[in-house]
Amino acid sequence: MRVSLIIASLLGIALAAPVSKKISPKVMLVTGFTPEADVWTPFNFTEQYPVVGFMPEYENVTCTASGDICSMTMGQAELGDSLAIAALWLSPDFDLSKTYFIVNGIVGINPKLATEGGVSVSRYVVEFEMGQSLLGSDLPANFSGLTLFSEFTGDPYKYPDVSGTEVYELNNDLIDRFVNVTKNVTLAEAPKSVQDYRKRYIYKAARHAPEIVRCDTVSAMTYWAGEEWARNVEFFSQLLTNGSAQYCATTQDDTGTMVGLVRGALYNKLDFSRVLVLHGASDFDRPPPDATAYQGLFVEGQSGFDTALVNIYRAGAPFVEDIVANWEKVYKKGIAPSNYVGDILGLLGGKPDFGPKS
Ligand SMILES: *[C@@H]1O[C@H](CO)[C@@H](O)[C@H](O)[C@H]1NC(C)=O
Ligand SMILES: *[C@@H]1O[C@H](CO)[C@@H](O)[C@H](O)[C@H]1NC(C)=O
Ligand SMILES: *[C@@H]1O[C@H](CO)[C@@H](O)[C@H](O)[C@H]1NC(C)=O
Ligand SMILES: *[C@@H]1O[C@H](CO)[C@@H](O)[C@H](O)[C@H]1NC(C)=O
Ligand SMILES: *[C@@H]1O[C@H](CO)[C@@H](O)[C@H](O)[C@H]1NC(C)=O
Ligand SMILES: *[C@@H]1O[C@H](CO)[C@@H](O)[C@H](O)[C@H]1NC(C)=O
Repeated sequence: MRVSLIIASLLGIALAAPVSKKISPKVMLVTGFTPEADVWTPFNFTEQYPVVGFMPEYENVTCTASGDICSMTMGQAELGDSLAIAALWLSPDFDLSKTYFIVNGIVGINPKLATEGGVSVSRYVVEFEMGQSLLGSDLPANFSGLTLFSEFTGDPYKYPDVSGTEVYELNNDLIDRFVNVTKNVTLAEAPKSVQDYRKRYIYKAARHAPEIVRCDTVSAMTYWAGEEWARNVEFFSQLLTNGSAQYCATTQDDTGTMVGLVRGALYNKLDFSRVLVLHGASDFDRPPPDATAYQGLFVEGQSGFDTALVNIYRAGAPFVEDIVANWEKVYKKGIAPSNYVGDILGLLGGKPDFGPKS
């Protein structure tokens, strides 16, 4: 009797104690470093929530007063990114089960598909890293200069023996919604110097004013540049996706971010069909025909940085506002993907609709 009374009173205390409420953001803006995070400051982030495992200089998730929109900065590059995302979903302070992740930041751009200062939204995120490699005069002549090839195939033309992090496919219906919502958005024009630079390319897309383009992302820890890299990346990303991925954006982050997100989805901490990958192009991934790769990388061609940042906001903000405004009607229940969503091994269930099983 006495014991049960004590238990009852303890329970009563426990029930009466204020239950700390989890933050359930509708939108999480995911960036890599300060200039990218600063893009979103017009949303007025007033709340700060420290997350164990984040980089010290980006130790907080910051949120609007309502908690609807939050922002996190991973600290640059794939390896740190996957860790930062895991730290987020391991945090007891957040309920991310319905959160839309807008993974965004600056990228290099393929002049065949888009231009400096423009914005891309990607269905596929592909890794250019996992594999075997020979270089220069060590590379057999019959590899035709294809320097990264799948492990243990001994043949750059063979479909890769995959390990899991090579390809991620995102919700194409969410991209449709994004494209609809941003249909009337006018992107900022780049400075005159950038306009002159882009005219030196032969491709129509490179010469065009900045616009929102649907095309895919390739990620590696290496900041590559030049025609040789571009040819290799193009070939490998097409091989991996059986011709599905058309890469335009080059990053040092996104496959790492995807590893973290898919792993979180596997443990039901978040919904991988609520991920959008949005980029602003700060520079071209290869030089115009009248310049060398060295000149393109180090001397000119990098000046789309400010325009890229401005345009990430111009394209992204209306979508963030759409998510908040149409939460009950559209977003809360989710936008069902009509395509496969997940990684190349089907970790989250379903069968990839690219690659050898397609
Ligand atoms: C942010 O705060 C400024 C200054 O108080 C205000 O003018 C602006 O409307 C706010 N923006 C949003 C998105 O709440
Ligand atoms: C994180 O938030 C705390 C509490 O608001 C603040 O004191 C600290 O300066 C913030 N850290 C950074 C890096 O902004
Ligand atoms: C390249 O040549 C080697 C022999 O020199 C051969 O074994 C291999 O199959 C060839 N690979 C390709 C991709 O043609
Ligand atoms: C996009 O707009 C078109 C035409 O207005 C409409 O048919 C379609 O359902 C919309 N898609 C999404 C995902 O909102
Ligand atoms: C785009 O502009 C057209 C014409 O003014 C308008 O009918 C439509 O609702 C706008 N769409 C969006 C998503 O703002
Ligand atoms: C690539 O896709 C095509 C068309 O769907 C299919 O016929 C082919 O078998 C696929 N190849 C591989 C290697 O998956």
